Amino acid sequence: MSSYAEAFRQSVEDPETFWLDAARGVDWVNAPTRALDGSEAPSFRWFPDGTLNTSVNALDRHVQAGHGDRTALIWDSAMVPAKRTYTYSELLDEVAVFAGVLRDQGIVAGDRVIVYMPMIPEAAIAMLACARIGAVHSVVFGGFAAKELATRIDDAQPALLVTASGGLEPGRTVEYLPMVEQAIGLSQTPPHTVIVKDRESIPGSAADYKTSSAAWFDWDELVADAGPADPVPVAATDPLYILYTSGTTGKPKGVVRDNGGHAVALTWSMRNIYDISPGDVWWTASDVGWVVGHSYIVYGPLLVGATTVMYEGKPVGTPDAGAFWRIISEYGVRALFTAPTAIRAVRKADPNAEELKKYDISSLQTLFAAGERLDPDTYEWATAVLDRPVVDHWWQTETGWAIAANLRGLEPMPLKAGSPTVPVPGYRVEIVDGEGKRVEAGTEGNIVIALPLPPGTLTGLWRDEDRYRRSYLDTFPGYYLTGDSGYIDEDGYVFVLGRSDDVINVAGHRLSTGSMEAVVASHPAVAECAVIGIRDELKGQRPSGYVVLKAGVDIDPEKLRQELVTMVREQIGAVATFRDVTVVQALPKTRSGKILRKTMRQIADHEQYTVPSTIEDPAVLEALERQLGG
Ligand code: COA
Ligand code: AMP
Repeated sequence: MSSYAEAFRQSVEDPETFWLDAARGVDWVNAPTRALDGSEAPSFRWFPDGTLNTSVNALDRHVQAGHGDRTALIWDSAMVPAKRTYTYSELLDEVAVFAGVLRDQGIVAGDRVIVYMPMIPEAAIAMLACARIGAVHSVVFGGFAAKELATRIDDAQPALLVTASGGLEPGRTVEYLPMVEQAIGLSQTPPHTVIVKDRESIPGSAADYKTSSAAWFDWDELVADAGPADPVPVAATDPLYILYTSGTTGKPKGVVRDNGGHAVALTWSMRNIYDISPGDVWWTASDVGWVVGHSYIVYGPLLVGATTVMYEGKPVGTPDAGAFWRIISEYGVRALFTAPTAIRAVRKADPNAEELKKYDISSLQTLFAAGERLDPDTYEWATAVLDRPVVDHWWQTETGWAIAANLRGLEPMPLKAGSPTVPVPGYRVEIVDGEGKRVEAGTEGNIVIALPLPPGTLTGLWRDEDRYRRSYLDTFPGYYLTGDSGYIDEDGYVFVLGRSDDVINVAGHRLSTGSMEAVVASHPAVAECAVIGIRDELKGQRPSGYVVLKAGVDIDPEKLRQELVTMVREQIGAVATFRDVTVVQALPKTRSGKILRKTMRQIADHEQYTVPSTIEDPAVLEALERQLGG
């Protein structure tokens, strides 16, 4: 039996042995004697009697093993521009002292801390400092505006918020502090304390917010006065973080990750999926605000004692399409993990990969892609120009690590364009039809995973067990619903075709059309609206709004478009990339009043579609076809 087949078999037939074995890759305060606790099925907990500290696993233990001088983190900002390197000893010192700052501010195990930061080392330091004292971090992506931040504050109810004066985007500075203050004003349960890392180049500092309802402090001043905090052991099942992600409604879902399962799964994944060992240089070009950044900029590489690169910049334009190749050659990167959109952006700017010729990228073994489907065209291009394996893998915020992958460390398999290869050990992936019946190989359906999910996956939604069960567990009892549709071929390869709900994926960023609809609908001229994700050559998808005006309203469509774009930008954030607005006479609906979003998307994408039998008025669809189908 192949290594993969054997590992997969054991992971599902004897998960106790498989995962207790994997748990040996982690340093425990009390090593677990059991892997799985199924006493509250369909909710499961991993390593119920284990205790540990995640930050100790990411830092202290490497220093204690004599690797304090090894590089832990390389920060490279193409935006400032600036570079900075931290050894494991240095990073540990900074984390321990910032943990001391949090402790001095009264933060104890279980308290929530929001981290609203750009891509600077202090973001990782704040996360690891929370983990050190058992506080639960919730990182909010810097591209979200005040209202989205306020929604997350109200759900997580943090005691403290850590931020920076701002972030740097090409051609503009994003000032965070006015947004933080606005979010605090909007929030019902604001944090009592705000800590600000002052970035020289960006205006605003804690001192400017003396009159705010929260107490604002300067990061550097607090650090200068603090002593290091000792790590606090926590139960493996205690939460490490909450990460909000888009669901189908405007209210984001607070995905909860535990400490023990997370440390075990990520450690296992670094070796078996990514083939990364201690001392290897690993680079994930994403953002700490997304799950990919949590797992593979911060925790995964540090848990195994590798060097992680943290990059503030874009794949193109900062300054050119050679940015990725520069970083690989400068730091000897062994593997790069990025989103297909980034590869498409590089290809668009430099179709013949001329920039690549300027750099020695011989250290690079593999390019990993995730966050959205790696389309075959982009896969072929990247494979040809890099002459190395380009490996798609599929996962979600909820799972925290790959569901399907080509396991480069365990057993590399032939790559198939359009497929993230096979289910990762621990994930029993199946395809079911609308009634929950398994379908034959090659038939498209709902992608589900038989319970229990492996360690490292979500333990629930923050203080919303009901929504957790409704969203993921109730549709097909015994299975976790991924929300993606696809098929498995005769060789067992998984093909993920897209979401089967109203979640869209723009430039590898997961967004909810529901939250955009709520903003658009609040415009005084709009009677009703639909926002759908349509195909976009560069970003995979982009949101597109269709609005019906209130009777008697006469507004210039371009003026309306500009107003709606500004509203979405201000209320959700620039990252929503909301730019298209079409005024239509009516929206196609079923007789029960449900908007036919899928059919609208098919028309906009010029795809074949069948008129649903439940349609209320076929003439609406015909009018739309004339207007959009063109
Ligand atoms: N803070 C504030 N604003 C942000 C932001 C952040 N952290 N990240 C993005 N934005 C803004 C951008 O500045 C842009 O604003 P604009 O409308 O004023 O131009 C807007 O949000 C849309 O951003 P994006 O979709 O990223 O487009 P872009 O044109 O700036 O860049 C790419 C295009 C392809 C270079 C970029 O999307 C990219 O690198 N994608 C890879 C995505 C990725 O790593 N995803 C993580 C999942 S693995
Ligand atoms: P997120 O939670 O932001 O990581 O987004 C998860 C969603 O992105 C999944 O449910 C998929 O729809 C999509 N996705 C992520 N990776 C892939 C991939 N490799 N192939 C296809 N879709 C993907």
